[in-house]
Amino acid sequence: MNVTFNLDSITRDNVKKLVPYSSARDEFSGSNGIFLDANENPFNTGYNRYPDPHQKNLKDKIADLKRVELKNIFLGNGSDEAIDLLFRAFCEPQKSNVIILPPTYGMYEVAANINDVAVKKVLLQNNFQPDTDRILNAIDTNTRLIFFCSPNNPTANSFQPEVMQEILENFNGILVIDEAYIDFSAQQSFVSKLKNYPNLVVLQTFSKAWGMASLRLGMAFAEEKIINILSKIKPPYNINGVTQQLVLEALANPEKTKSYISEIIAERANLVSELETLKLVKYIYPTDANFILIKVDDTKTLYNYLVNEQIVVRDRSKVELCEGCIRITVGTGEENDTLINALKKFN
Ligand SMILES: Cc1ncc(COP(=O)(O)O)c(C=O)c1O
Repeated sequence: MNVTFNLDSITRDNVKKLVPYSSARDEFSGSNGIFLDANENPFNTGYNRYPDPHQKNLKDKIADLKRVELKNIFLGNGSDEAIDLLFRAFCEPQKSNVIILPPTYGMYEVAANINDVAVKKVLLQNNFQPDTDRILNAIDTNTRLIFFCSPNNPTANSFQPEVMQEILENFNGILVIDEAYIDFSAQQSFVSKLKNYPNLVVLQTFSKAWGMASLRLGMAFAEEKIINILSKIKPPYNINGVTQQLVLEALANPEKTKSYISEIIAERANLVSELETLKLVKYIYPTDANFILIKVDDTKTLYNYLVNEQIVVRDRSKVELCEGCIRITVGTGEENDTLINALKKFN
């Protein structure tokens, strides 16, 4: 338990003073009535009404699924929105700083730049695990957020839970653990540890295992006070009605997502064993995600060859510690076979 964390002291003054926009649907949330309050088109197009700004039905179902209370859930237009709002709520432009652990997901740094917040980079070690001492040493009085991505994009490994626990216990700011790929991982989610840590925010998303990237729905789990701050500063209708409806339908059938996950994990194992047989693959990094990072001799020639074969992978060779690396998302069995056949031809 972190005893010195004080949320109030890291919340920006303008956010504390802010009176949030009050939408018509905040004032009346019943479903029966004649709605002449929100300047909507009265004709039923299927989409003529504003959606529920609090996403109550959706959060009820997510609360059941994740075994948390509704008050501990924030929903964003993708986890990317939650990342941006964390900066807006807790980082003072030109004064605060955040710590990221490259190589990692690019949006943390982009969001910092948008918000004019300095980024301190503490590189992962050669085994792609965080260096706890160097992270703790990098913290100063203006450090507001630390981003851990576990399983990490693009390295595909999970971090040891003890490292995250140590940071949570010794940091007076917020540790954000981005679990976008947790459904493919053997590790347990930190959502179950929310009660122990008032300075923990866990991010998850419907974009990966749930197969709904196009709908843009991300989740942030945290103690109620953090959730209230994010909710206060979000755009009122950040989750559109179609997304709310379609995700509710998906949540009614979680077995489908479970079968996607087991199929992707099985395909991942097949892909790894096929890649192991190829001479051009110099190293396959252990993966806990729905993608595989491999080392090859010449990423550019391989990338261009694959694009020519109409197969698009991600060249990560310009990323520090990922020199010579290509990131491959696990596709369907058929797509993976096509990839392997193309790589065999290249070999
Ligand atoms: C680690 C990580 N976090 C978040 C995201 C984005 O999630 P969302 O689609 O919910 O914005 C990605 C997307 O690739 C990711 O790799």
